[in-house]
Amino acid sequence: MTSFFLCLPLHPALPWLLVFLLGVSNAFAASEEYKTYIIHMDHSQKPATFLSQESWHKFTLKSLSSFPADHEDELLYSYDHVMHGFSARLTPSQLSELEKSPAHRATYEESFGKLFTTHTTKFLGLKSRTGIWPASSFGKDVIIGIIDTGIWPESESFQDKGMSPVPERWKGKCENGTDFGPSACNRKLIGAQSFSKGLHASGKKISKEDDFKSARDFAGHGTHTSSTAAGTHVLGASHFGYAKGTARGIAPNARIAMYKVLWSTSTEEAAATDVLAGMDRAIADGVDIMSVSLGFTQTSYFKDIIAMASLSAIEKGIVVVCSSGNDGGPNTTYNGAPWIMTVGAGTVDRSFGGKMHLGNGATVEGTSYFPESIYITDRPLYYGERNRSKATCNLYALDPKEVDRKVVLCDNSGNISVIEQMIEIFRAGGYAGIFMADHVALGPAGSFIPSLVLKTSSGTSVREYATKAKKAMVKSMRFMMTSLGTKPAPQVARFSSRGPDPISPGVLKPDILAPGADILAAVAPNKPFTSIGNYDLVTDYALYSGTSMAAPHVAGVAALLKAVHQDWSPAAIRSAIMTTANLVDNTGTTFKDQWTGLHATPLDFGAGHINPNKAMDPGLIYDMGFQDYIEFLCRLGYSKKQMSAVLRRNEWSCSQNPIDLNYPSFVAIFPKGASSIKEKNFSRVVTNVGDDTATYQAVLVVPTGMRIKVEPSTLTFTSKFQKQSFAMSVEVDKDATNITSGYLKWFDQANHIVSSPIVAISG
Ligand SMILES: *[C@@H]1O[C@H](CO)[C@@H](O)[C@H](O)[C@H]1NC(C)=O
Ligand SMILES: *[C@@H]1O[C@H](CO)[C@@H](O)[C@H](O)[C@H]1NC(C)=O
Ligand SMILES: *[C@@H]1O[C@H](CO)[C@@H](O)[C@H](O)[C@H]1NC(C)=O
Ligand SMILES: *[C@@H]1O[C@H](CO)[C@@H](O)[C@H](O)[C@H]1NC(C)=O
Ligand SMILES: *[C@@H]1O[C@H](CO)[C@@H](O)[C@H](O)[C@H]1NC(C)=O
Ligand SMILES: *[C@@H]1O[C@H](CO)[C@@H](O)[C@H](O)[C@H]1NC(C)=O
Repeated sequence: MTSFFLCLPLHPALPWLLVFLLGVSNAFAASEEYKTYIIHMDHSQKPATFLSQESWHKFTLKSLSSFPADHEDELLYSYDHVMHGFSARLTPSQLSELEKSPAHRATYEESFGKLFTTHTTKFLGLKSRTGIWPASSFGKDVIIGIIDTGIWPESESFQDKGMSPVPERWKGKCENGTDFGPSACNRKLIGAQSFSKGLHASGKKISKEDDFKSARDFAGHGTHTSSTAAGTHVLGASHFGYAKGTARGIAPNARIAMYKVLWSTSTEEAAATDVLAGMDRAIADGVDIMSVSLGFTQTSYFKDIIAMASLSAIEKGIVVVCSSGNDGGPNTTYNGAPWIMTVGAGTVDRSFGGKMHLGNGATVEGTSYFPESIYITDRPLYYGERNRSKATCNLYALDPKEVDRKVVLCDNSGNISVIEQMIEIFRAGGYAGIFMADHVALGPAGSFIPSLVLKTSSGTSVREYATKAKKAMVKSMRFMMTSLGTKPAPQVARFSSRGPDPISPGVLKPDILAPGADILAAVAPNKPFTSIGNYDLVTDYALYSGTSMAAPHVAGVAALLKAVHQDWSPAAIRSAIMTTANLVDNTGTTFKDQWTGLHATPLDFGAGHINPNKAMDPGLIYDMGFQDYIEFLCRLGYSKKQMSAVLRRNEWSCSQNPIDLNYPSFVAIFPKGASSIKEKNFSRVVTNVGDDTATYQAVLVVPTGMRIKVEPSTLTFTSKFQKQSFAMSVEVDKDATNITSGYLKWFDQANHIVSSPIVAISG
């Protein structure tokens, strides 16, 4: 099943955030009913008489018994890059016939799922005159393929003013469809295609009211991610007045190709067959970077279509950046294959609020996303202190006669969310709401009445005033206040999925943190963003939150790096991003976890928060090639058939002496029990990408209960691209039961600091 890594309600009445809906409809069909399958074939068995794979696939299908002659369109897609194979509608008996063929490699059943920056460029330290922006010519000529919900081509973010002609190597196209013609593309948006055969085959209909039968975006998600990664300069963008400023993507000179695979039917859905088709085409078209803000349930790599398709992309040198998911808790990362760059979400140093003056002269500030500049004056303040369910604004508790046209205070002593309280005030006809909550599980789309969320501490004083005053009044209330410099920032966003990775806990995931909370970017202005009373509000730019928003930031940075270092592998680009990441927030201390308010660990933020300017000049890189990933897979104990499914080939070689995956981070997992030895040895190879001569010294950050040794502790390089290896051993106390983390940092004289987190998980 798929999930969108966006935190937005499908309807304003649903709690914003936390919706990462994971429903599945995998109803088992009655026998001999057609179902959709992805069939992985052994390419080497294709008889030479077939000129193309597709003709072979069609022939294979037609030669199945009881395959009706008129069922030619049962072939949905022929895949050439993500795997050699096809997707088709088949009956169980046709499938078993096909599976007996020597050319058959693997079968995957169709799976389904539902919906899971003005300021951020500055927050990331990007400057027009110095650093990676000018060095990369703002990402000139790098092509970012976005696998998403489509794109709104008229958005100002996709204007191509001043851009050079489309590179000749580009093989993509701009597909015609509903409200989308080839002329919708330009030098910025150089490709737009949509993939819905899988969705149709499953019996789902894309109706006019729900989506466009083309690459045009209906949901708004793809427009948002695209403009975050590579949107051009747009002056005066804002979310109904919040976050006003110049909107631009991280790589404003890079080009965008949209592959629409996610559709709005009754809900948002992507079929595995369509996602594979989109990624297959992106590889064929020649994208340099792929940004994927969606995911399927975590499973072994030989069944995980994004993992398999990404490995094919990596083999061609394409950087694949994916969201880590919005599940929040430990052991929940998605898209954690070690060849993928997996991105978690951090908060930004910007907050949105409102202010209120009370009849007693007190001024109280709180959080608000209310999208209008109305100014409320002289309204009675209502608080149902004599009745608990009224005080907490339980559903159907408020009396419309009592709250009519008043500002209603709801306290947080009950078991009810702010959104539910807001719905109750709306129902009962209250004018505005004041809520108490220390964690504001509320976002832009959830603010459909004038509202202010107060921290419990300031809420308590308002409650006291409301209880004691004879005639409590709100003298004024105003909204749309954007503040910068909020501290601490970044924090690990509450919803961001955390490691250890459920599939490979020995590889630290997420890799990196990037901005993912309240990100302003372009959206599709085709439908109301929210409704206020009887008014539907539409916007061109909106604030979204989710790891969906974090991944395109990293895709943009990868594009900048690709423009500067055209010869770097995807692993080198990831290594540069990871080893140069920031490790402290804007108060100078370790990142906080927005969920617990405590210090976060590398299992929450990976190697740290992305720092694009530093990533340009990392000093050393931990490089890897395709064979390194083969070696990693060799040690997973997969069967020959499973290996061939992931690797798309019949032959590969596994070395006799297992070597460590040359990853830029370290995880040691120790079993329970004090008797076992809690020591792990690592080996790594670093490549000098700085000056010809350099000497690096290992500096260790070691927490109590952990011992780390590095050998040698000095690395001397005499030429660029020279490699040096080192060994490291990590030991923790025998009775350790916790997660402990330290750092290995290589320092040279030229101010390079090559930093890697070391995590030990005991018991
Ligand atoms: C483009 O698609 C639209 C809508 O599907 C259709 O009406 C139009 O004829 C198509 N144009 C071309 C040139 O195929
Ligand atoms: C509190 O208010 C609710 C809802 O209006 C009502 O059903 C209930 O009887 C009230 N309780 C008391 C003790 O008055
Ligand atoms: C709060 O509500 C949730 C869901 O409605 C319920 O599962 C839980 O038991 C409630 N807790 C209390 C203390 O009432
Ligand atoms: C992590 O999640 C996976 C599946 O999602 C599960 O099989 C595994 O037991 C979990 N590990 C821990 C330590 O909870
Ligand atoms: C780690 O390496 C050291 C030195 O080579 C060796 O003495 C030790 O036994 C190794 N530990 C493990 C757990 O392999
Ligand atoms: C280790 O974990 C235990 C149980 O979760 C906790 O009580 C203890 O304080 C932790 N110790 C350290 C050093 O964090």
